[in-house]
Amino acid sequence: MATATWADSVEVPRAARLHGTPALPGDKSISHRALLLALLARGHSRITGASRGDDVRTTRALTERLGARVRERIDTLEIDAEGVDSLDDPGPSPIDCRNSGTTMRLTAGILAGQPFPAVLDGDESLRTRPMRRVVEPLRAMGADVSPTDAGTPPLRIRGRRPLRAIDWSPTVASAQVKSAILLAGLRADGTTRVHEPVPTRDHTERMLRARGVDVRVTGDGAGGSIVEIGGGQVVAPHDELVPGDGSAAAFWLVAGACHPDARIDLTRVGVNPGRRGALDILREMGATISERPHPIPDGGEPIADLRVMSSELRAVDVDARRAVDAIDEIPVLCLAATQARGVSVFRGLGELRVKESDRLAGIVEGLTAFGARVALDGDDVRVTGPTALAGVTVDGHGDHRLVMTFAIAGLLASGITTISGAASVAISDPGFLIELERIRA
Ligand code: S3P
Repeated sequence: MATATWADSVEVPRAARLHGTPALPGDKSISHRALLLALLARGHSRITGASRGDDVRTTRALTERLGARVRERIDTLEIDAEGVDSLDDPGPSPIDCRNSGTTMRLTAGILAGQPFPAVLDGDESLRTRPMRRVVEPLRAMGADVSPTDAGTPPLRIRGRRPLRAIDWSPTVASAQVKSAILLAGLRADGTTRVHEPVPTRDHTERMLRARGVDVRVTGDGAGGSIVEIGGGQVVAPHDELVPGDGSAAAFWLVAGACHPDARIDLTRVGVNPGRRGALDILREMGATISERPHPIPDGGEPIADLRVMSSELRAVDVDARRAVDAIDEIPVLCLAATQARGVSVFRGLGELRVKESDRLAGIVEGLTAFGARVALDGDDVRVTGPTALAGVTVDGHGDHRLVMTFAIAGLLASGITTISGAASVAISDPGFLIELERIRA
């Protein structure tokens, strides 16, 4: 049994078998956007199956602070809002984005077009994360946005109306940055364009279209894309049915593929092209994963039922471009690589240093403690496998994705694994430890 203790640590013994259908949280990226877009729409929106994780609760509280009325009915959030021109002035006290970079960066794009000043702040981890990537384009659009001298939160934002439309090519591949610019672009005086040399998850584009906003995407002829949005468009209220979180699913896919006696089913998993990198990489490694697609609703997200079985894995080489579609799954993919034959390389992972923790350092430290052969070479991770893992005491650095990676490692490792910082699983998947018990029973 996996037991969480009051001391914020969890003990995970090796699992004899892994059979079952773990429940997935609602997709975190889509839940954030559904709440923020409901705030911008005048009228009544519904979100069914939203994530109950702390990050999405943070966005919910933020939308309430800005004037949305949110009620919870079983699995549906019922939201009434007055529209983008009638947001409530939050006053001088900072809006707390807690641990959520998505909340802060996307909201910066919204506040850039508002007539009142506002301050966005966060917890100790969020206060170390880079914000210039959103500050610079929003300043170019005419908003007055100031981070600390280190380019980190708190962010002081004084909006401008209308904003200036811009053509922007972000220096990092980031759906958060693209989304912040598109949300600001809604309030701009012309057509705003974001050029992404490496396209990122397109939830914002799909969800804006589903709400009546014209968003155009064209290829740049070199594998990238250009996303265009015209200013002054109205976001209509919408009913969103949120798919299961593909990033949460990745932990179970790795558990199933690596464990010698496993059959795990996952239902209604979001398989957006910008999110399915882990699924495709695991298949390339030889994982037996079947995929039964559901019909895609108009303007909606692709969804599939997945089944993973015990598999013989081989090493994989993932370049920086492919890593973008698996950015949150790299830690658990590195765990999969410890069970794969050969030397796996995951390249160009500098962005992982500035996630909720320095995930590159955390992966190497944690997996090495389990006895795995993992090395860092600049921004590349090399994993040599297969290695039999041994249960250890390991620090999750309060980072949900590291904690969950080490918990899955604990299912595979001999003996007992103890992970500290385990309460952080609630950031994205509050049910994770319960499912971890159910799946091994
Ligand atoms: C997210 C985008 C990614 C991802 C994060 C959620 C989003 O961040 O790591 O967990 O919802 O847009 P970046 O866009 O900064 O890479």
